[in-house]
Amino acid sequence: MEIKVYDSVDKIYIEVASYYVKKITDNPSITLGLATGGTMEPLYKLLVDDYNENKTDYSKAKTFNLDEYIGLPKDHNQSYRYFMNKHLFSHVNIQLSNTHVPIGDKLRVNESAIEFEKLLSENPRDIQLLGLGQNGHIGFNEPGTSFDSITHVVNLTDKTREDNARFFLNLDEVPHQAITMGIKSMLSAKEIIIIATGISKARAVKAMVNGPVNERCPASILRRHPDCIVYLDKDAASLL
Ligand code: GLP
Repeated sequence: MEIKVYDSVDKIYIEVASYYVKKITDNPSITLGLATGGTMEPLYKLLVDDYNENKTDYSKAKTFNLDEYIGLPKDHNQSYRYFMNKHLFSHVNIQLSNTHVPIGDKLRVNESAIEFEKLLSENPRDIQLLGLGQNGHIGFNEPGTSFDSITHVVNLTDKTREDNARFFLNLDEVPHQAITMGIKSMLSAKEIIIIATGISKARAVKAMVNGPVNERCPASILRRHPDCIVYLDKDAASLL
């Protein structure tokens, strides 16, 4: 695991965005593992700015997102499909049929998990992008999730629901369940990039980087990946 600490958040996004643009330009048929969350918004904005300026070609790229809430309508403004369309997919020339976000339809979520995992096994990711939950989760793999997990349904912890309530009208609106790529599925990507910024992530960063590698901190397993880079600002790195 390589740790990079930046004195400004902007520098993280500039570096990561230019890395993505280079990788996509070098390999237009790239397969990307993508993530949602506030941390990713500035990155996607820079990719869209780059597209508007340089027309970086996404027409052959494929994407696979980490997770989705269960029970929100597809067009709900807090669904992760909505987030991805809004922040990235509708602004670049990617084919929507090449973009995959797990489907959180309550009635067939188990089938949907099996189908998503099959797609993942047929489409190895070149780069997996990750954010970090304040409790050390990656995707929606909460503390205690097996490192051998594949795509599955999770019950969200109270902590995660509270953390994500800021995006909803109130806590009651936050779904109790989600479908997420498993930890084993994430680790199969050739490269992993994880970004964490702000003081609220400092404890999770410390557990990920310095704590024991165990399922109490799902992100700690990233230390065993052969090519994982962690991008931190000073606040997120403050307990290291
Ligand atoms: C959600 C997502 C995670 C994300 C985390 C952090 O729970 N499932 O994939 O990493 O939130 O989000 P934020 O970037 O908003 O702090």
